[in-house]
Amino acid sequence: MKLRCLFSKEQIARRVKQLAETISHDYRNKDELFVICILNGSIFFSADLVRELKIPCIFNCIKAKSYAGTTSTGKVDISYGDSLDVNGKDVLIIEDIVDTGTTLKALIDFYTAKGAASIKVCSFLDKQCRRTADVKVDYYGFEIDDKFVVGYGMDYNEKYRELPYIGYIE
Ligand code: IMP
Ligand code: MG
Repeated sequence: MKLRCLFSKEQIARRVKQLAETISHDYRNKDELFVICILNGSIFFSADLVRELKIPCIFNCIKAKSYAGTTSTGKVDISYGDSLDVNGKDVLIIEDIVDTGTTLKALIDFYTAKGAASIKVCSFLDKQCRRTADVKVDYYGFEIDDKFVVGYGMDYNEKYRELPYIGYIE
């Protein structure tokens, strides 16, 4: 198996800064933003993004799992860290990649049921061409074609998460 670089460490850092600027600007009049890192995939993106934000945040992690290998199981398990009280709060969900949108739909429904005042989504990558669920990605780093990517938190059967760049499997 061969890995090809899609986005370098430098390209990622540049884009994260730009996203943080946009988000900080959009939420500049809010008291507090509840930033939710979706484990495991968005761990590095969330950590990088939140440290570039210029607004007060409450940072929390939650676990959502829907994948086995390169195929979506269609079922989303939400566990760990789901006790945070977001009632009446502004929530920003941080994802590594939105593919079919199944995971995101489940997360949006989850925070809607918890009474969030607003829910927005920031995903580093957007595989728009694969979308089947009716969800909106408010902020994204890059749109990509139908490629299976790894690195910067994303895995292939739990491997390659630690890569500082984003690569795709050829
Ligand atoms: P969705 O529910 O189909 O949108 O899938 C979303 C989740 O599947 C993401 O949060 C990732 O964890 C995982 N995923 C989707 N596409 C890829 C990929 O190309 N590489 C690694 N993980 C992926
Ligand atoms: Mg994910």
